[in-house]
Amino acid sequence: MNDKLIIFDTTLRDGEQSPGASMTRDEKLRIARQLERMRVDVIEAGFAAASNGDFESVRAIAEAIKESTVCSLARANENDIRRAGEAIRPAARGRIHTFIATSPIHMEKKLRMSPDEVVAQAVKAIGWAKEYTDDIEFSAEDAGRSEIDFLCRIFEAVIKAGATTINVPDTVGYNVPEQFAATIATLIERVPNADQVVWSVHCHNDLGLAVANSLAAVRAGARQVECTVNGLGERAGNASLEEVVMAVRTRRDVFQCDTGIDTTQIVPASKLVSGVTGFPVQPNKAIVGANAFAHESGIHQDGVLKHRETYEIMRAEDVGWGANKLVLGKHSGRNAFRSRLQELGIEVESEEHLNHAFARFKELADKKHEIFDEDLHALMSDEATTPELEHFRLVSSRFHSETGETPQAEITLAVGGHETHTAAEGSGPVDAAFKAIESVAQSGTDLLLYSVNAITTGTDAQGEVTVRLAKDGRVVNGQGADTDIIVASAKAYLNALNKLHSKLERVNPQV
Ligand code: KIV
Ligand code: ZN
Repeated sequence: MNDKLIIFDTTLRDGEQSPGASMTRDEKLRIARQLERMRVDVIEAGFAAASNGDFESVRAIAEAIKESTVCSLARANENDIRRAGEAIRPAARGRIHTFIATSPIHMEKKLRMSPDEVVAQAVKAIGWAKEYTDDIEFSAEDAGRSEIDFLCRIFEAVIKAGATTINVPDTVGYNVPEQFAATIATLIERVPNADQVVWSVHCHNDLGLAVANSLAAVRAGARQVECTVNGLGERAGNASLEEVVMAVRTRRDVFQCDTGIDTTQIVPASKLVSGVTGFPVQPNKAIVGANAFAHESGIHQDGVLKHRETYEIMRAEDVGWGANKLVLGKHSGRNAFRSRLQELGIEVESEEHLNHAFARFKELADKKHEIFDEDLHALMSDEATTPELEHFRLVSSRFHSETGETPQAEITLAVGGHETHTAAEGSGPVDAAFKAIESVAQSGTDLLLYSVNAITTGTDAQGEVTVRLAKDGRVVNGQGADTDIIVASAKAYLNALNKLHSKLERVNPQV
């Protein structure tokens, strides 16, 4: 049996479908570069037909990425497939991933198509995809609730038509490991020419079983797992890349296969995705949570000091912990700054952009003497806002907070290029800052989440604030970083307002 497990990352497509996780083209490019550095085999860069923005992002990633295969999702219709085909055209290796639902409930209630029509449409879809690439993946959406005979029938037909990867999604996270493994084993046994294709799984985490189901499928013969960094994704998310990769690596004896992933890039990838999307990582999250390698009990600490393997099955440094080495300081020059950005895969569009970013780096280095990679990511995330996303900009701020006095905020904002001054009181300085901004923006949004994290260690660390706002069913995450957490909060609030203001249309492919 083939012992290579293909890692297909869908952070930029399914991950982006998490409410509020939508990313700009530049943010997606930065994540794609990190995925390539981590040696992900296939990067699902987006859903090209969803909007012009999605098309441009997939295309930009197809142009930039050389080592990983770049893939676009497409429903099984001609327009979607042609958009996907055009978007991946510049890729060194490009894949089209087309899907159609196969469960009785989806076919009858959502597609309103008969099973015969679904098979015919799937076969036509492969034919259109073949005009662009030989690397074609077919997914039977809601396979986890589909009839096995029907799955065998449609998979046989698409393999005959030219599909090279067959993906079995548990779209609604309904399956349990033994049963899912049995489904995969049956399909591989019953579908003619099953040995000519790669069998893939795509599990959602509604019952907290996405990783367990994916791993059970690997034991049953699946050789591609679709997953996301930090388990980001629709609803409860997708199978988490870091958990799948480290499980097969740590228990090679059980899985009899391994991935090509450079595991030391896992923690940097996790931090980057969390920073860009505004989805914090829970401290006790396996592999990438802040406590994943922390031993609290005295007995455990004693054991680890005597012999590490008494309580540790993996080494923190093997997954990239401890990689946040000191990179730059206030005496670092422009060239050192530029080359570190290049090493991190952060693009600067022009010399003017570099000069502006470098000036901000110097300001930060004056306040905070040691600058880490995480600080640079946060600084460049701020820089990366495109003009159409910058309707509101923080020009200056003053906050007053004193025991026994009502906190106050005075803020100067640029709104559509015009400066305006505003002030408000609040129950705390952050509340006062948000009220001052609202008195100008009048957004009428609901604040769903406010959270502060230290980007690195030490009291001079930058605080990274995430603000989640909702309006008319749209949810956005805004982020801001600064050594002053009130300023970081104001930036995060404005970042979220800017995302709401820029009407990025999104289409969810599963609706
Ligand atoms: O969950 C799902 O079924 C999907 C498909 C589009 C592969 O994301
Ligand atoms: Zn999915």
